[in-house]
Amino acid sequence: MKALVYGGPGIKEWKEVPNPKIMQPGDAIVKVDTTTICGTDLHILKGDVPAVTVGRILGHEAVGTITELGSSVQSLKVGDRVIVSCIKSCGHCANCKAGLYSHCLGEEGASGMGWILGHLIDGTQAEFVRVPYAENSLHKMPAGVTDEEGVLLSDIFPTGFEIGVQSGYVKPGDTVAVVGAGPVGLAAIATAGLYGAARIIAIDLDENRLIKSKEFGATDYVLASAADWKSQVMAMTDGAGVDVAIEAVGTPATFTMSTEIVRPGGHVANVGVHGKPVELHVENLWIHNVTISMGLVNTNTTPMLLKLIAQKKLPAAKMVTHHFTFDKFLDAYDTFSRAAETKALKVVIQG
Ligand SMILES: NC(=O)c1ccc[n+]([C@@H]2O[C@H](COP(=O)([O-])OP(=O)(O)OC[C@H]3O[C@@H](n4cnc5c(N)ncnc54)[C@H](O)[C@@H]3O)[C@@H](O)[C@H]2O)c1
Ligand SMILES: [Zn+2]
Ligand SMILES: [Zn+2]
Repeated sequence: MKALVYGGPGIKEWKEVPNPKIMQPGDAIVKVDTTTICGTDLHILKGDVPAVTVGRILGHEAVGTITELGSSVQSLKVGDRVIVSCIKSCGHCANCKAGLYSHCLGEEGASGMGWILGHLIDGTQAEFVRVPYAENSLHKMPAGVTDEEGVLLSDIFPTGFEIGVQSGYVKPGDTVAVVGAGPVGLAAIATAGLYGAARIIAIDLDENRLIKSKEFGATDYVLASAADWKSQVMAMTDGAGVDVAIEAVGTPATFTMSTEIVRPGGHVANVGVHGKPVELHVENLWIHNVTISMGLVNTNTTPMLLKLIAQKKLPAAKMVTHHFTFDKFLDAYDTFSRAAETKALKVVIQG
């Protein structure tokens, strides 16, 4: 089969590799019908994630068709159309039982690390992928859900919802600011409405993404490069600050921005993956009674989000801006890595 193989920082190749085989009784082999590229894959290619070794097949998002199953898998069958979750979950360790799939203690990849696909084991940017703990890590696709919608449930929608909206304790009537209107920020914007947010302010440097954020449920937007960006946000909250600030970029500057616009008693929910230390101004924040959360997505809400997408209650399909075939995988990377120019949000690659 062919796959997108990491060759060290800056190096990737779409090339012939051996087909994956069943290794454990709980495994499934999935023929990948649709996959996509995540900002995290770009981080890996920059060399920011040293745990990814040369020769690794990248990718942790896919929709596909089961072609083979290990002997212990009972709830799935060959031919099922499934969403591959970006997080492995054995389903029976202490952390899985608590819904903390991101820290599944199953041995596959590394015990205690849920994100293993395209990281510690071969991933989904391939014609076929081996998925461990298939019964819990795959989700059957209901009829009527398209591949483009399903693939956004591997990572993007659960991440924005769980680590942004749920961890930020969004509640009815809240004003929510989302710093970063990339796919993850837009997913947070789209799902903040599920908990009754009244006003949702998108903040980004890219005006195209801000305009797009309105299609996902933003009521207002603020250009982060504006000298008065902060007073614009404060003016929308009568000077009090937002109830919940969701950080969906992953830089020290945007984390600090999020802490500066939250009202006393509010929440800062950090979703961004940070590669550098961030200064936390406890000397200013302590007196504001704010809470700060952060984390790796669990994907335990995927079945619930899938029901909403099946009823067309979340604008998932709008996230897909570009389509490629597998033989154009490198073009897909090129388009995605120049998102500001190409206006790419999610690029899908299909077999
Ligand atoms: N916690 C998790 O489990 C998890 C899972 C998936 C992704 N992530 C992380 O979430 C973050 C967002 O992912 P994405 O795919 O949407 O990324 P992205 O790079 O597509 O989007 C980031 C957005 O931030 C904007 N931005 C950059 N600097 C800014 C600034 N100073 N002010 C305002 N906006 C600014 C960019 O214009 C862009 O639109 C990344 O850090 C990603 O690694 C976290
Ligand atoms: Zn991802
Ligand atoms: Zn587990």
